[in-house]
Amino acid sequence: MEKHTLNIDYNILQIEDLSLQDRELMDKAKEELKNSYSPYSHFKVACAIRTKSGKIFVGCNQENVAYPSGLCAERVALFSVGAKKEIPQTLFIVAKNEKNETSTAFPCGACRQVMAEFQNFISKQDIKIMLLTQDEKILSFKSVNDLLPFTFEL
Ligand code: THU
Repeated sequence: MEKHTLNIDYNILQIEDLSLQDRELMDKAKEELKNSYSPYSHFKVACAIRTKSGKIFVGCNQENVAYPSGLCAERVALFSVGAKKEIPQTLFIVAKNEKNETSTAFPCGACRQVMAEFQNFISKQDIKIMLLTQDEKILSFKSVNDLLPFTFEL
């Protein structure tokens, strides 16, 4: 047997540490929270994506009375990037959980898988992922591989 260990590097930043561009992305995501349609979970999530061409795309979670018909904020934003054939460079996620004010909105597995598609198959360029915790710290990952190691390949 061989024992292997996987290390994941990520940074924790304060809002003051953000570059102007990342700060703008965070502000766009925060602004987008108001469009979240989440009457069932009361969990608002928004995502802003800066693309290689410098455009910003936003999305927020959209729920449905038939639960699985809704979609997460990250995929709403990512698919609108894909629909314009843009290349995602940085993705900023913010959330407001009315039921648990200490939780952090890490992206779900399905959203990580869609991020991996863009990074590893469509653009072949790392996507930086930043998350704002509810106490306003930022977790920053340099690549989707850090959130989804051992990704599925055909
Ligand atoms: N949600 C997201 O928008 N992104 C995630 O990565 C996880 C969950 C949404 C889906 C649903 O509207 C609510 O959060 C509660 O699960």
